[in-house]
Amino acid sequence: MNEEKVNLKAPVYIPDSSYRDYRWMGDYETVYRESVENPEKFWEDIAGELEWDKKWDNVLEWDYPDARWFSGAKLNITANCLDRHVNNSRKNKVAIIWRGDDGCERVFTYRQLFREVMRFANGLKKLGIKKGDRICFYMPFVPEHIIAILACARIGAVHTIVYAGFGSDSLHQRIVDSEAKLVITADVSIRRGKRIDLKSIVDEAIVNAPSVERIIVYRRTKPEIELYAEMELDYYSLIKGESFHCDPEIMDAEDPLFILYTSGTTGVPKGILHTCGGYMVGTYYTSKYVFDIKDSDVYWCTADPGWITGHSYLVYGPLAVGATILFSETTPDYPDLGVWWEMVEDFGVTILYTAPTAIRMFMKYGESWPDKYNLESLRILGSVGEPLNPEAFEWFYRVIGKSKLPIVDTWWQTETGMHMITTIVGQPMKPGFAGKPIPGVVADIVDNEGNPVEPGKKGKLVIKAPWPSMMRDVWNNRERYEHYWNDIPGCYTVGDMAVKDKDGYIMIIGRSDDVIIVSGHNIGSAEVESALVDHKAVSESAVVGIPDDLKGNLIVAYVILKEGFTGGEKLENELKYHVRMTLGPISMPSDIRFVQSLPKTRSGKIMRRVLRAQEMGVDPGDLSTLED
Ligand code: WT7
Repeated sequence: MNEEKVNLKAPVYIPDSSYRDYRWMGDYETVYRESVENPEKFWEDIAGELEWDKKWDNVLEWDYPDARWFSGAKLNITANCLDRHVNNSRKNKVAIIWRGDDGCERVFTYRQLFREVMRFANGLKKLGIKKGDRICFYMPFVPEHIIAILACARIGAVHTIVYAGFGSDSLHQRIVDSEAKLVITADVSIRRGKRIDLKSIVDEAIVNAPSVERIIVYRRTKPEIELYAEMELDYYSLIKGESFHCDPEIMDAEDPLFILYTSGTTGVPKGILHTCGGYMVGTYYTSKYVFDIKDSDVYWCTADPGWITGHSYLVYGPLAVGATILFSETTPDYPDLGVWWEMVEDFGVTILYTAPTAIRMFMKYGESWPDKYNLESLRILGSVGEPLNPEAFEWFYRVIGKSKLPIVDTWWQTETGMHMITTIVGQPMKPGFAGKPIPGVVADIVDNEGNPVEPGKKGKLVIKAPWPSMMRDVWNNRERYEHYWNDIPGCYTVGDMAVKDKDGYIMIIGRSDDVIIVSGHNIGSAEVESALVDHKAVSESAVVGIPDDLKGNLIVAYVILKEGFTGGEKLENELKYHVRMTLGPISMPSDIRFVQSLPKTRSGKIMRRVLRAQEMGVDPGDLSTLED
């Protein structure tokens, strides 16, 4: 492994003393130590703040690499996200403020959200949906998306949400793998004033997907699109006349809550499985502890529900703590580059959780946009998805945070379900470093044999003890689940390279596998390669990620053409379009290079690192395994 030294010098920012006073659980060092010495007590205390129909027999049953958390316990996550608040003091508190792409608004109190969820849950029951059935979502950024997610959890069905920017092949693959009985979609998604037809993508995706019995369509535009009565059903006609009361299905702590697909090193995405009890405890804990969400906050997470950030920190975590959540369809640059800051001022946003790629875009256009608005309501800033590079950190801290707000750069994954490494509110911050493991999380940086590496040396980031919201399986693929735990015995291998400084602060350097992170989205090289090879002109392809100031990485594809085809701008555009239509716009290569051969090992494996080095004009490193 490449153990070269990394420059770890960074300024230290000490948060305002008012933040240091904030301690829900007490001082970090003490709480951390206690959490590691007695993890079961630590997690049990947190779980005890939530409502359970029956308490657990054991906090943790650890049969490596399988964990059962809160075994024997019974619960429903929606009872904690809804009933608990409605029955207590948050009945008429605002749960969701939604802002549409065109600026229109809809507001739901906890009581209203609760009723809508129960009504839709009754609609799902009427269709014969039962506990354990999979429901696939392909929905735009509208309140009905959240209502349907919660309704699904209420009756114990398993949601598998597909980001509505994915193409029909990606959607098809996920519907088939999860054997979804039902697809919930909408006529269109609206982005930057433009309508994007979702329904026709679903139409394509369900061809040869025999599990699908019905499609529910939320129609938001007029004239209404036509539906085919044999299979398709309007969102509102489904719930018409349904009762506003639906008791929650009582779930075992280890029953599935959802499957969320993420890109891996092969062409097939992995269905990450999360279960009810542990996931609830993990997302509740981190929403409260890392973000310090209080009743007076207006919390805005800019992620789409289709990503894990949306699942954990737009829906379940903030609702579990009873937050007021701003939920917005708005893109950061439409109608102009001030719209997000206008919203912060207008809604009085106090906690803003966003992604480095958005911050870098704002940086590019300068301070004049945010400076037009009053951002004084803000008290905490958050970042997620990829490393928050020091330049972006400094800008976010100075321009948005007015050189006093804490920035929580949260490192975690679809697989971890919750935040794992960050500087929690009140801790000193170092630009470029995500921070330290939060209490309850045992993280380390090790060499290929699993020995901890010394501060300043690069290594693999691993997690050394189970945590409640860890994934429980890869759907239909036990082997790929075990793979996470086999690389370094006893550890969960994350797939990221990282380095630690003397104080234990962790800097994430990048992926150690062939996953490319573009604007915070995971793209599997192999997925893009197979989409390209699927085109009639392509015989072979290799896809690499090249660092980019704005998006983190850009996708560059090397393509060997079949006999009879010649490369050129026309074919380049055609191939890009082909990838856009099969996988979606986020997976589209920025550049395509037509080549005669690809660097391979003697065993035939494409050496993507050689291509990357060539592209960046740097030393490719060891070439001894290169075939030619
Ligand atoms: C991968 C996980 C967690 C929700 C969004 C992405 C990278 C994520 C950070 C961060 C550096 C980060 C890692 C990780 N990543 N957050 N704060 N600093 N890198 O979830 O799609 O499962 O991707 O995103 O490489 O392994 P995901």
